[in-house]
Amino acid sequence: MGYKCSVILTKALILFVLVNCLHSAAAAVSPQPVTDIPCVACDAPCPKRSSYVRGGCTSCNAHTSPCCGGVKNDYFQNGGTNLRKNCTCNTVKSRCCDGVINDYFQNDQFENLFSNRDSLEAHAKGFWDYHSFIAASAHYQPYGFGTTYINSTFFGTKEVAAFLAHVGARTSCGIEVASREPLEWGLCYNKEINSNSNNYCDEHDKNIYPCAPGVAYYGRGALPIYWNYNYGEVSKDLKLDLLNNPEYIEQNATLSFQVAIWRWMTPIMEHQPSAHDVFTGYWKPTKNDSLAKRVSGFGATINVLYGDLVCGQGDNEFMNNIISHYLYYLDLMGVGREKAGPHEVLSCAEQVAFNPTPSSSP
Ligand SMILES: *[C@@H]1O[C@H](CO)[C@@H](O)[C@H](O)[C@H]1NC(C)=O
Ligand SMILES: *[C@@H]1O[C@H](CO)[C@@H](O)[C@H](O)[C@H]1NC(C)=O
Ligand SMILES: *[C@@H]1O[C@H](CO)[C@@H](O)[C@H](O)[C@H]1NC(C)=O
Ligand SMILES: *[C@@H]1O[C@H](CO)[C@@H](O)[C@H](O)[C@H]1NC(C)=O
Repeated sequence: MGYKCSVILTKALILFVLVNCLHSAAAAVSPQPVTDIPCVACDAPCPKRSSYVRGGCTSCNAHTSPCCGGVKNDYFQNGGTNLRKNCTCNTVKSRCCDGVINDYFQNDQFENLFSNRDSLEAHAKGFWDYHSFIAASAHYQPYGFGTTYINSTFFGTKEVAAFLAHVGARTSCGIEVASREPLEWGLCYNKEINSNSNNYCDEHDKNIYPCAPGVAYYGRGALPIYWNYNYGEVSKDLKLDLLNNPEYIEQNATLSFQVAIWRWMTPIMEHQPSAHDVFTGYWKPTKNDSLAKRVSGFGATINVLYGDLVCGQGDNEFMNNIISHYLYYLDLMGVGREKAGPHEVLSCAEQVAFNPTPSSSP
């Protein structure tokens, strides 16, 4: 129920993504000094992603990018297509967004993280596997997913732990099997339970994203998406017709992870960065953010994904469950929970939502 509300907030704000991006592209900023280390993958043009414009700018294209030099106008003229020129890394590492997650995250680690997903009690037995996650990641690695260095600090392993922690918490059936370790039950589901109660077809978006007859846009994906407009947006990014075939997501684990990574990498709402950006620290808090106690880090990813349904309410079970998954996964991935940072960075208990719900809303 909580999640549904958070998605309602994204309604009607989708269009601002493009507007924000074009706007920020127009504001010229002088390039940062770069060290001239060739950056292999960043020399390749980024694919055009109409629903992904801002993520593309910030992760791999922009001169303010974590990995690349270059100037936004290089690629933003001519309507935001992939006109990026050669760029160089602005970190002392030569690797930027040309890395791959399977360099540091292996099948046996995935098995450890999601050790009960194929057990008899699991609702999506046999659905999820390591290779589907790796295949889905390939689509977003060039944008910095799991591959970001900033100032020679590598964020990849922690980012994968953070992303998967959200996934694990959302898809867990640990509460049902509470007699056992609740953190070992991620990827137990692959779609929303009680999926027939609402078809999530929003009338206001029907002109842009017409709902297919007899279809319900309930939560699907490793980080579930809801509503026809989100299905429509992710369809554009993945070049698939998920408006007419939403069931593809629950039939294909790669696609299910792609939808989830899209949600992680995309600034879906107005005046709000992506979870990727707040996690890697690419996002810089403004004075207002600081006043609202929003700092970059894991807690801010909860804020991006759930807003005031979860954040700014002090400690609560929903939030603590996500944090527990993150700490547990950091341990299993060999990073260690002590690297997670202080509690005020891990948590969003005191953070004001990026987009506070109008007080009339439930
Ligand atoms: C990019 O780099 C290649 C190889 O160094 C060079 O041939 C090409 O002219 C460069 N392109 C631009 C737009 O600078
Ligand atoms: C990188 O380090 C410089 C110098 O310490 C700092 O000004 C800059 O904000 C850092 N960049 C990021 C993205 O953290
Ligand atoms: C599953 O989805 C992926 C990514 O969209 C696609 O490449 C693959 O062909 C799909 N597999 C099947 C069996 O449809
Ligand atoms: C900061 O918050 C104030 C009060 O809510 C608002 O008027 C102002 O526009 C905000 N500034 C920015 C840069 O968002």
